[in-house]
Amino acid sequence: AGSGKFFVGGNWKCNGTKDSIAKLVSDLNSATLEADVDVVVSPPFVYIDQVKSSLTDRIDISGQNSWVGKGGAFTGEISVEQLKDLGCKWVILGHSERRHVIGEKDEFIGKKAAYALSEGLGVIACIGEKLEEREAGKTFDVCFAQLKAFADAVPSWENIVVAYEPVWAIGTGKVASPQQAQEVHVAVRGWLKKNVSEEVASKTRIIYGGSVNGGNSAELAKEEDIDGFLVGGASLKGPEFATIVNSVT
Ligand code: G3P
Repeated sequence: AGSGKFFVGGNWKCNGTKDSIAKLVSDLNSATLEADVDVVVSPPFVYIDQVKSSLTDRIDISGQNSWVGKGGAFTGEISVEQLKDLGCKWVILGHSERRHVIGEKDEFIGKKAAYALSEGLGVIACIGEKLEEREAGKTFDVCFAQLKAFADAVPSWENIVVAYEPVWAIGTGKVASPQQAQEVHVAVRGWLKKNVSEEVASKTRIIYGGSVNGGNSAELAKEEDIDGFLVGGASLKGPEFATIVNSVT
């Protein structure tokens, strides 16, 4: 950890029921969280209101996706305006499941980021390579192309957190080693320095996601360029998520 305040997000993905979420919220409300960490959870859209009205204000709320422009006749979509109306401060964009399962493309994701920022939401901008891309030595090329799509679209990086999530580590139990993650985080920072600015490179938080849990987060957090985590599965367990939040030393 090095740049700015440590940032830990819990991406609940398409999980939960009213009852399981009430339990998770109650566990989070009673957890002790280090003061110097930004903590965000991202419930499924349909439960955001329930979470907002029951969760401690200590934890901010994020959408898991948002529409590319103003709301209207877009069946099945959720607008940035609606996320704000429910009290969200953040939105996750470019998650690998949106890219590779749903088929969202770089340019579309960049436009979404620009729109969300223009409306005042913070953006958790996800990037990451697939296993075959890593094996072909294309990790940096893939990550840089995804970063460039964000950079080409957004006017400012002030409200962006970059989440590096190697696709092969997501939901697989196969976490990147601290060295593997650190190597990409350094490269991402280098790319930002070269292509955006030195200031943005040094200030932007670059968080890691992919099978982070209560047992591996402390080692990862020791790396200079790992400024937090985006947690999937382990964020569905309140006490374990709290351990991850508190893993920065
Ligand atoms: O966005 C978080 C994520 O994709 C990582 O998921 O379950 O591997 O922690 P998981």
